[in-house]
Amino acid sequence: MSKSFFMVAPHSRTISGNDKIFAVNNAAQAMAKKIGSNHVVNASIGALMDDEGNLSILSTVIDILRSLPSEEFAAYAPIAGLPSFLEAVKKAAFKEFVPKGYIEAVATPGGSGAIRHTIRNYSKEGDDILTSDWYWGPYHTIAEEHNRNLKTYTLFDKNDKFHLSSFTEKVNAILEKQRNLVILLNSPAHNPTGYSLSDEEWKNVIDVLKTAAKNKDKKIILFVDLAYIDFAGENSRSFMKYFNNLPENILIIIGFSMSKGYTLYGMRSGAMIGISSNEEVAKEFKQINSFSNRGVWSNGTRPAMVVLTKIFENKELLEKVEAERKKLHDMLNERANAFLEEAKRVGLKVCPYKAGFFITIPCDDPERVCEELTKDAVFAVPLKKGIRFAVCSVSKEKCSKAPEKFVKAIKAVKK
Ligand SMILES: Cc1ncc(COP(=O)(O)O)c(C=O)c1O
Repeated sequence: MSKSFFMVAPHSRTISGNDKIFAVNNAAQAMAKKIGSNHVVNASIGALMDDEGNLSILSTVIDILRSLPSEEFAAYAPIAGLPSFLEAVKKAAFKEFVPKGYIEAVATPGGSGAIRHTIRNYSKEGDDILTSDWYWGPYHTIAEEHNRNLKTYTLFDKNDKFHLSSFTEKVNAILEKQRNLVILLNSPAHNPTGYSLSDEEWKNVIDVLKTAAKNKDKKIILFVDLAYIDFAGENSRSFMKYFNNLPENILIIIGFSMSKGYTLYGMRSGAMIGISSNEEVAKEFKQINSFSNRGVWSNGTRPAMVVLTKIFENKELLEKVEAERKKLHDMLNERANAFLEEAKRVGLKVCPYKAGFFITIPCDDPERVCEELTKDAVFAVPLKKGIRFAVCSVSKEKCSKAPEKFVKAIKAVKK
């Protein structure tokens, strides 16, 4: 029945139904109740789980959290975030690859908050926002929430490398018609494909932006989403050298999240870090995004900020967290390798995976293939052009059995 009576104002009438990922997860859980969880592959959840399906947790992080005095839980944090937290955020995001330029940070509720402020403050209503054709769904939600249009370039070329010409074409086409361009680029360990741009690809991306920025009327804002960087392996930050001394009309905004790297999904903590060669642009970044904090959610979650501060003020604690995280990372790598090896063996095409929580299988009619998969008790998330399989939440054994089931389901739908 089509809806004819609304209480909400016209701009808020986007009704998008239940979240797809949660719906798939519910179906998997219902099946587990019927046939036992051992027989169900629930590859819908975007959080790292152990082989028994419990959330993987960095216990040092939780221990620090639990040891905080009551006041640290009860008190407000400053609107822009605790200054000590903002220093810790820079260390966590850059490690030894601190870009040359003026750098300012503002706390946000997770990486999501950083995406929101970037879209709201650096583009105007009706503008196009650019990302790749494979992207994390909430990019669209956040763009739509603010009356922006999410446009995409093709992520992979025919050799499964970054599609530079598609990117270039879209950047130039959008800049022809609007002054500011916000680009959302999730690398390393992209959600949903697991792709990480190589340093050479990063250099090419920045070169394209530098060329476009020769027109000084244009403003280019590159949002670099680091949500999964701590599961991206060695050398995952060397690309940041390309952020040194950029033209003043290119602003880099790093989206930092404590959700995956510190297993604090529910604490809603993260930050945005602005990098500019112009001191005024960096100051303005701090001011306008702090103002937006006040106007949207006020301040962030203080205990989470204190936890990150403590970790980066104490070398031993940091080493402990990194050692625990390495175990989770190894587990994730083993699962991904098990899936990829078997995919190769059975001839299942997957998007080029380098690291991260997800592997994506490109296919026609993903909804129907997913339906078919449920007959084999495999639950994964249908996207527009393929299926997202969350290796982060599936045991190695189940990961190695899944590709064959994908081949079978894709064949069944093709018939
Ligand atoms: C690509 C990507 N960016 C950003 C985030 C932000 O997460 P949070 O808001 O929990 O920090 C996520 C979380 O799933 C993500 O997948």
